[in-house]
This record gives sequence, structure tokens and C-alpha cells, in this order.
Amino acid sequence: MGVKHLALYRIDRGRTAHTRSRYDRIAPLYDRLETALERRYYARWRLSLLSQVRGPRVLEIGVGTGKNLAYYPPGLSITAIDFSAHMLERAHQRAGQLQIPVDLCQMDAQQLDFPDHTFDTIVATFVFGSVPDPILGLREAARVTKSGGGYSSSSMSAPGAFLA
Ligand SMILES: C[S@@+](CC[C@H](N)C(=O)[O-])C[C@H]1O[C@@H](n2cnc3c(N)ncnc32)[C@H](O)[C@@H]1O
Repeated sequence: MGVKHLALYRIDRGRTAHTRSRYDRIAPLYDRLETALERRYYARWRLSLLSQVRGPRVLEIGVGTGKNLAYYPPGLSITAIDFSAHMLERAHQRAGQLQIPVDLCQMDAQQLDFPDHTFDTIVATFVFGSVPDPILGLREAARVTKSGGGYSSSSMSAPGAFLA
């Protein structure tokens, strides 16, 4: 991609900071807000999606409070990022309670701090509807995926799933 096109995909720092602080604020309430939906729909759907994840190296983008952690098959090396420190605190607590080894990092999906072709599978559930520039985020996800790697995602408006 030429320099001219890259210029279209600069991170909007203002919008990014605004979205991050909104997630920091709702972090203490996030799990409670979604309890009914989680029980009725999402838990089953997460299990079905995450049972398809291939390793060994997995990156979860926008891990939030770590709701997916319980559903990963064993034996994976999981790295999970989120730009909200308060969401990550909750994910950290949940990983400890479940005794699931996961490397949690504070990072922006629009600018991933990983080399090209690092991960076998990228997971993102209910994330790209809130990433300020989702195209930038998806480009980064593609960059850090190994060739032939998988990508599992969903969006807020269409909670379907696909693997590529
Ligand atoms: C709706 S929550 C979904 C959390 C979790 N994936 C789930 O399925 O419950 C969206 C998450 O994406 C994170 N997020 C949004 N934009 C992000 C970005 N640019 N970089 C990293 N995380 C981001 C938010 O902080 C929040 O934790």
C-alpha cells in the first residue's frame, strides 16, 4: 500500500482516548450489564466459536473482562490485549480465578506491538464495532497473523462468527 493510502488510516488519538475512557468507566459494571444475554445466548456461542481456535499462538483483541477465557481449548499460548486498563484488571482477576495462563497487555488494536506473522489465530468478539478505526484494527490483525492463520470475529450488530 502506498504512502498516500496509509495516510487515510492514521489513528484518531482523540476518538481513541474518548472510547478508552468510556470502557474504563463501564468496566466495573460490564459483566452485570450483560448477565442475561450472556446466559441466554452468548455463553453457548462463545463455546462454539472458541472450540474452533487453532494454536499454538493465539491473540485475543479487546479481551475486555476476559469472558472468552473459560472457553479456550487447553494447551494454547494465549496473548490478550485491550486498551482499557480497567477492563484488563478484570480480565486479570478472571484468569487468576480460572487458573488460565494468559499474557495480558495494554495495547491499541489499531497499532499492535507484535511482529508480522506472529499468531496462528486471532480472536475478537464484540470488539470492532467500538474500535475507532476498525479498518486499521483489521489490517493490524491481518499483519500479525501467520499466513494460513485463522481469524475468528463477531460484531455487536451481527453476533455471527466466521473463521478464515
Ligand atoms: C464490547 S467489549 C467486548 C469485550 C470482550 N471481547 C467480550 O466478548 O466480552 C469491547 C472491548 O474492546 C476494547 N477495545 C475497543 N477498542 C479497542 C482498541 N482500539 N484497542 C484495544 N481494545 C479496544 C474495549 O476496551 C472493550 O474491552
